Amino acid sequence: MKTEILHQFRTRFGQAPLLVQAPGRINLIGEHTDYNLGWVLPGAIDKSLWFALGLHPDPNQFQMLAADLGESHGFPAGVPFVPERAGWAEYVQAVVWVLEQEGYPVKGLQGVFGGDIPMGAGLSSSAALCCGFIFGIAALQGLDIPRPEIARLAQAAEHRIGLNCGLMDQYAVLFGQRDHLICLDCKTLAFERFPLQLTGYTLVLINSRIKHELAAGSGYNERRQSCERVVARLQAEHPALGSLRDVEPSLLSAYQDRLDPLDYRRAAYVLAENQRVLHTVAALQQNDLREVGRTLFEAHEGMRTEYEITVPELDLLVELAHAEPGVLGARQVGGGFGGCTLNLIRSAEKDAILARMTGAYAQHTGIQPEIIEVHTHDGVQVVDLEESA
Ligand code: GLA
Repeated sequence: MKTEILHQFRTRFGQAPLLVQAPGRINLIGEHTDYNLGWVLPGAIDKSLWFALGLHPDPNQFQMLAADLGESHGFPAGVPFVPERAGWAEYVQAVVWVLEQEGYPVKGLQGVFGGDIPMGAGLSSSAALCCGFIFGIAALQGLDIPRPEIARLAQAAEHRIGLNCGLMDQYAVLFGQRDHLICLDCKTLAFERFPLQLTGYTLVLINSRIKHELAAGSGYNERRQSCERVVARLQAEHPALGSLRDVEPSLLSAYQDRLDPLDYRRAAYVLAENQRVLHTVAALQQNDLREVGRTLFEAHEGMRTEYEITVPELDLLVELAHAEPGVLGARQVGGGFGGCTLNLIRSAEKDAILARMTGAYAQHTGIQPEIIEVHTHDGVQVVDLEESA
């Protein structure tokens, strides 16, 4: 893919490009905790977008090509941007718009991008797109934009498109490291990388092929609003509370009768999910993979029954995992409403287990799922063209 991107860039623009690699991400545990300023446990993966970028001869013009789709999008600088859908072209334009709004002197550019992160599969192809593009623009034009600031700008672009996301995806994409996960405290934005050692076990994604479109009215923003309503209600009597992160389970239960039942259930999920992240970190540190797996199953159950962000196909994949003694744990990954499950599978039995699970899934749904083996990877970086020649 990388070679193809370079080839297309050179053929079309006849320049030597800057090449940037932006990975997707998995999240071991901690869903919908980021915008509630809790904890998450993601890592960047070895599925990426590559951007070949160069300056445009006209400093007021942008021209990007999506190599996978064979589509091209051009637009002038400084034009007010109102997204009508959530396609790749809108993300590209939202990034430029956000940079311009924030006063960065962005010059016109041209480029080709593409990669192997499945779209709408909960692996943050949109964060890879926004973070990689901003990183590339900064590198190409000598703008000094520190990574935390890139994360914030990329998040602003997502918000502009319509998804009121947190910062987990951007931090994973920007700060990931091979063989490591990141435990990110979304309140302070401090994070710790620690080694992911899964002796005898492997992380495998199974893509249900049910595509989610989080930005297009999926119920994601509505979950966030529920959480914010609960915080606002509690703040009326406890003004020091800043977010659900600061809420003790006993305080939440004390307000159960005064909160909308749906909002209450959603907030209770967030509090429990935060505890599950911390619990998983401790289990990983003790090398207790059984406990990690058990917690993953529990987290899926929370997403299914309390937060209600799963779909039947994803629930089926997790049920199939439950029935396999060689799978320690499984759960839906990312924002929800489709995408992949993440499975912690005994390496020695992996192929047989996956054949049974995918066979049963295909039989029930008529959909052939996709198996994606993932390894953690380094975050966004400039790729040395000599090495990739
Ligand atoms: C999406 C969002 C993230 C996060 C996850 C759910 O990936 O972009 O900010 O909220 O969903 O954990």
